[in-house]
Amino acid sequence: MKKLLLAFCVLIGFSGAGFADPLTAPSLWRNQRGSELRITAVGNNGSLRGTFTNYAPGYQCQGIPYPIVGTTSPGPTTFTVNFVQCRTVTKWNGTASGFGMPTEWVLYYNGQTQTGSDFFFRVN
Ligand code: BTN
Repeated sequence: MKKLLLAFCVLIGFSGAGFADPLTAPSLWRNQRGSELRITAVGNNGSLRGTFTNYAPGYQCQGIPYPIVGTTSPGPTTFTVNFVQCRTVTKWNGTASGFGMPTEWVLYYNGQTQTGSDFFFRVN
């Protein structure tokens, strides 16, 4: 029985189908590129308020806190940033779990799209 329970836990751990958490406010998250996601408020319906500041090497519009629009839930969390001065819009989709949130993003610029991944760590 113990072995069965252990196997179940290992399976859940590796499948990523474990426990997800909604984001909470206030909280500060940083991704592996050095960019910052600051959550200032979470509505009763899961709506997110906050800012995203880009510090990723190789990108423009750095150091400017842009407002985010998004939602969080015990499942997916999504947020979108309009980097107005760069005419770029990026949308992130992820699932937070404890102090980590792996995401996939799609960046729209000049009729073109770029995709990538960001891992956010909660730092505060
Ligand atoms: C631009 O250079 O056109 C605007 C800034 C885009 C920054 C992107 S969004 C996805 C990726 N993750 C980051 O933290 N920054 C880059």
